[in-house]
Amino acid sequence: MTDFIGAVDQGTTSTRFMIFDHDGREVGRHQLEHEQILPRAGWVEHNPLEIWERTQTVIGTALTSTGLQAVDLAAIGVTNQRETTIVWDARTGRPLHNAIVWQDTRTDTIASALERDGHGDTIRHKAGLPPATYFSGGKLQWLLENVDGLRESAERGDALFGTPDTWVVWNLTGGADGGVHATDVTNASRTMLMDLETLDWDDELLALFGVPRAMLPTINPSSHATAYGATVARGLPPVPVTGVLGDQQAATVGQVCFAPGEAKNTYGTGNFLLLNTGEEIVRSANGLLTTVAYQLGDAKPVYALEGSIAVTGSAVQWLRDQLGIISGASEVEHLAAQVDDSGGVYFVPAFSGLFAPYWRSDARGAIVGLSRFNTNAHLARATLEAICYQSKDVADAMTADSGVALEVLKVDGGVTANELCMQLQSDILGVPVSRPVVAETTALGAAYAAGLAVGFWSSTDELRANWAQGKRWEPTWSDDQRTTGYAGWRKAVDRTLDWVEV
Ligand code: G3P
Repeated sequence: MTDFIGAVDQGTTSTRFMIFDHDGREVGRHQLEHEQILPRAGWVEHNPLEIWERTQTVIGTALTSTGLQAVDLAAIGVTNQRETTIVWDARTGRPLHNAIVWQDTRTDTIASALERDGHGDTIRHKAGLPPATYFSGGKLQWLLENVDGLRESAERGDALFGTPDTWVVWNLTGGADGGVHATDVTNASRTMLMDLETLDWDDELLALFGVPRAMLPTINPSSHATAYGATVARGLPPVPVTGVLGDQQAATVGQVCFAPGEAKNTYGTGNFLLLNTGEEIVRSANGLLTTVAYQLGDAKPVYALEGSIAVTGSAVQWLRDQLGIISGASEVEHLAAQVDDSGGVYFVPAFSGLFAPYWRSDARGAIVGLSRFNTNAHLARATLEAICYQSKDVADAMTADSGVALEVLKVDGGVTANELCMQLQSDILGVPVSRPVVAETTALGAAYAAGLAVGFWSSTDELRANWAQGKRWEPTWSDDQRTTGYAGWRKAVDRTLDWVEV
């Protein structure tokens, strides 16, 4: 048997390829950023061709820099930024528009019209999602209404839709020369077009968004030996593509949250807290999403409750790029550590409105509680606290929905390198926070899904043995401190909502 599994992680800001061994240890990687195209306030786009070029480069470079060849890979998994919407011409492989990214809010009126016209409950029940700009359905409707000729070619099956997993898999497996047009149940569950119970595109939902079925990919399990085909590259042996799942679901698998009640929180551009609810579809009464966590081969799908937060790590980037108070994201920890607390300052980074549990696309960011005493250091600390308070908002909603109190929070993602932020997270939640040795759980989860399909790993139990705690933080705040701090946060959130009502 070949000794390694590869994983493409096509994320919001970059694309990486990672190679793992049987113990789940990283043996190689390469990563490249792509351009964030911001044509107007609230619009966020990516160039799909740039993403595909970056994907090919990171695969090639990760292999050569590790001294490996494609033949050394038993399989490849693909994971991705979810909801981001791409349409392209099946005959030429040319995108018909830039990708509309999950953070983009141009479909605000489409989302509010769905609620106003009484379709909100249907979408919440069937798709598990509230009408919001976040998901693919409205973005695809916008493209069908705004790109000349798209609807006609979509109806003929000449124009294809896909989230980034579908785009990457189609290209990896041959593109216009017969590429596989498929997605998995986790990505499909973010479109507002799939019924969570049937795991198929739903005619009533398709009609709401005016989406022709002919342009949609086939929905497959997240881990499957044959459904996604194999890579096609001149002169290289084909490598089977056997794992596909959205990045947050992949991190759930990478964190081995295979039992109901197990949860993880990933700290990236945004934060995404997922709680495994097993084979049960739990519909949230507290502003969370219901989503598919994964489906391994022919087994029944496993569902999750999800608390999605749009802006966490990207708030640190904002301090760097827009305010210039730090020159690199890692400096925020040093700056925030210069003060003992945030000096009464709260920062609510509602740049894309507020996602879970508020779902207010009209909210806007606010910094409140300022006095002349405050410095950059207080703002840096308030930014880290905002990451943690937003996570508390969704953790509380999860407890309310599930009746299960969080005992320990498993964390992963780039921001978890920030030790002060992780300590604050434990203090604000009042529970321990635990980071695994391999914090790249997203790519690892895609590798696990791929490896399970080809027998590289035999079972999820075998994967559990690969998980090891790297670091743990225990709460240090008193209950009073926690209660007062959180009350201030909720007042600050109210201000971001008040603002739009003025
Ligand atoms: O739902 C959006 C999420 O999938 C994006 O994740 O890590 O690319 O910011 P990330």
